[in-house]
Amino acid sequence: MTRAEVLGWLREDDPARLDELWRRADEARRRVVGDEVHLRGLVEVSNHCVRTCAYCGIRAGAPVTRYRMSPLEIFECALQATALGYGTVVLQAGEDFGLEPEVVAETIRAIRKHTPLAITLSLGERTDEELAAWREAGADRYLLRFETSNRALYDRIHPSRGREPSDRIAMLRRLRALGYAAGGGVMVGLPGQTLDDLADDIAMFARLDLDMIGLGPYLPHPATPLAAEPRPAWDSELMTYRMVALARLACPGANIPGTTALATVNRAEGRELALSRGANVLMPNLTPTRYREHYEIYPDKACLRETADVCDGCLRKRLHAIGRTVGEGRGDARREARSEP
Ligand code: 5AD
Ligand code: FES
Repeated sequence: MTRAEVLGWLREDDPARLDELWRRADEARRRVVGDEVHLRGLVEVSNHCVRTCAYCGIRAGAPVTRYRMSPLEIFECALQATALGYGTVVLQAGEDFGLEPEVVAETIRAIRKHTPLAITLSLGERTDEELAAWREAGADRYLLRFETSNRALYDRIHPSRGREPSDRIAMLRRLRALGYAAGGGVMVGLPGQTLDDLADDIAMFARLDLDMIGLGPYLPHPATPLAAEPRPAWDSELMTYRMVALARLACPGANIPGTTALATVNRAEGRELALSRGANVLMPNLTPTRYREHYEIYPDKACLRETADVCDGCLRKRLHAIGRTVGEGRGDARREARSEP
């Protein structure tokens, strides 16, 4: 796909033409990764964060009740993921230095030893030493969205910590060099974001040869500075589906989730629409309900009060209704099928 073609699709408003985009993405998804939808159990292990990202509801100083799960609590969630038949557990948190590297490594080793789960980390920007130690302990994958490939916009919404400006693209490359499967992604509809930026994002997904690509609409959180800024005129939900479809066409073997942010803007069918327009993964939330409400990166998050069992049943029913099946095993990305020019 050329850049002009990507931009053409991002600008496309004709419903019949968009149906053609959805059809092509769905066809590529079926051909390359099949009808199985992999379920990743998401555990939000801590909402402490030292960063002040301008969009994020758990940024340092935000008025939320802070929590940090114990290693035993995290391990119990991993057991629950296994019991529910999931192939992967995702440990996600803010950038929390109270999650001590050695304790994280011990938790990874325990999950590795007692379950067949693939282990995905999403713990923010960390040092090479930490990343290497966690890989060594048995972590398989790492998620770090780069949020936008527009450097000026990125810098505007990610105040650096100390002298070093943050460079998530560089960190994604290092993760790959350490042997992690690497996941990136962006928010769609950020104040100041243009369709050119989104076309650059698609090119960046392909250039980084990502194993996982997470895409969600930007949802303003009233307690954050970015909420006061005007957003692009286009519909961020529809634009997110265009991005899901284009990401599938640019990176056919990648794992692409129907995200919670999409389920939040369209509770009735956000996830289903993503799954029929290129996505092949869902991430049911396994965070204990007593903590969940405090992991408020954006307001009114879908499935805030539902227990893991309820979401599990609900998601299986939804998958079945659209003719898809639940994936068996770890659901690694199809590396051999990737990198179409
Ligand atoms: N709206 C939508 N997505 C958000 N994220 C963080 N804050 C928001 C928000 N206000 C996304 C970012 C981050 C991921 C964990 O959640 O893309 O990388
Ligand atoms: Fe959580 Fe439907 S997925 S209630």
